[in-house]
Amino acid sequence: MGLRLRLRIPPHKSSPRSPSYLLLCVLALSFFSFTALLLYKVDDFVAQTKTLAGHNLEPTPWHVFPRKSFSEASKHSQAYRILQCSYFSCPYNAVVQPKSLQSDSGSSRRRTQQSQCPDFFRWIHRDLEPWAETGVTKEHVKRAKANAAFRVVILSGKLYVDLYYACVQSRMMFTIWGILQLLNKYPGMVPDVDMMFDCMDKPIINRTESIPTPLFRYCTNEAHLDIPFPDWSFWGWSETNLRPWEEEFGDIKQGSRRSSWDNKQPRAYWKGNPDVVSPIRMELMKCNHSRLWGAQIMRQNWEEEAKGGFEQSKLANQCNHRYKIYAEGYAWSVSLKYILSCGSMTLIISPEYEDFFSRGLLPRENYWPVSPTDLCPSIKYAVDWGNANPSDAERIGKRGQSYMESISMNRVYDYMLHLITEYSKLQKFKPEKPSSAKEVCAGSLLCFAEQKERDLLERSRVVVPSLDRPCQLPDADRNRLERLIQQKKKTIENVRYMEMKRTERGSR
Ligand SMILES: *[C@@H]1O[C@H](CO)[C@@H](O)[C@H](O)[C@H]1NC(C)=O
Ligand SMILES: *[C@@H]1O[C@H](CO)[C@@H](O)[C@H](O)[C@H]1NC(C)=O
Repeated sequence: MGLRLRLRIPPHKSSPRSPSYLLLCVLALSFFSFTALLLYKVDDFVAQTKTLAGHNLEPTPWHVFPRKSFSEASKHSQAYRILQCSYFSCPYNAVVQPKSLQSDSGSSRRRTQQSQCPDFFRWIHRDLEPWAETGVTKEHVKRAKANAAFRVVILSGKLYVDLYYACVQSRMMFTIWGILQLLNKYPGMVPDVDMMFDCMDKPIINRTESIPTPLFRYCTNEAHLDIPFPDWSFWGWSETNLRPWEEEFGDIKQGSRRSSWDNKQPRAYWKGNPDVVSPIRMELMKCNHSRLWGAQIMRQNWEEEAKGGFEQSKLANQCNHRYKIYAEGYAWSVSLKYILSCGSMTLIISPEYEDFFSRGLLPRENYWPVSPTDLCPSIKYAVDWGNANPSDAERIGKRGQSYMESISMNRVYDYMLHLITEYSKLQKFKPEKPSSAKEVCAGSLLCFAEQKERDLLERSRVVVPSLDRPCQLPDADRNRLERLIQQKKKTIENVRYMEMKRTERGSR
């Protein structure tokens, strides 16, 4: 803001003491102070403008993390970017004509072509059950703010975001991008809605709370009522070099075909970062012995691998083992989908957290359950079982891969659409734009993105609206879900029993 001004003082015609000279002085003085005030105000304004890249946002107090540093050359260019991206990047015209989900239900021919959504979509009803009786009130949303990093309000297909706290890395940018793409995919079909989001790992809304608040995040667990929403990595994760989900899946599947089952190493493999405050990953380090435990555990060194262009961490090159281990990180881990995609038999160490799609997995059907309490022997048992029953193991591996293939981006968007739609039906109020919220459009979001982020965002962009209708949401069926949960528990107990039997035989 290098605004300089030069005052041209007219040649004197009158004496220095004359009133007109005085007047000029006063004018000049007030002009200078006004400009100074303006510059000061602009700086002040910029310092208060929160952005989805994380400018002027504090880390969430409930999960503190290092502040992001911005690479902008100077304070001025940063200020300029903040102003430009925040206020001058969205077109004024793009108003979408509302076309509700019901509106063309008359065309029954198209309706019948609509496929049923996968079974795990039933969890949407269950996740929203705590508000089935009371509905979602303004008060609920207000209370949810205490644990929210940002608020998403959709009005007539336009997206408004109110920012409260920063999110780790580029989570916020990619999550909001995902919602923007949903609006592109199903124009006019996303209802008006007011949702609070947190972007940190662990669920926070205790199931025992008397008035639970509706809070969206990436995972939940049995003890909590947080509502799972697809995580940012489906659109890409620039800090770990992960591309949009469908690109990654395609490459991993291709990589998995490079060697036949017989030629894959008959061991269990894990590669990742154990230093994420994850007790189970620390335990896993102890199972690193091919002969003793049938496992190979590798440490991912992000800094080293970033230097080598991530060649060593390419997921498509990590499908050479018959068994792949999944271990949770600090909470759920985005790695699950890539591990399952290999077509190896996935050994899932019984997880504590669940994301929106992992609830559809079935033990011994599309993965093998491993005990977290008896870790190394349980891995060893799975490996021995698989090597003794290679065609069964291969089938479980292939089903895991097919399951991930069924979680296409189409299904991810359908899940978002149905979740948002069902949630909006519970709203007891008409959503409004919060006064501090700003409109976000593709232009304003891309404006904030670094080059690497922009590449990923562009690649995951939905350019044309969907020609297909979204899949059809199955009805709420609490009993059916309950039966599935019990059946899963029983299968896992059976595997534990098989392990125990063998230990007994071995020690006899
Ligand atoms: C939930 O709240 C109850 C009662 O306040 C407490 O005993 C329990 O530890 C909490 N659970 C979690 C997971 O925070
Ligand atoms: C596991 O063992 C292999 C081979 O012995 C070794 O290269 C690797 O570094 C070990 N992993 C860890 C995490 O220590």
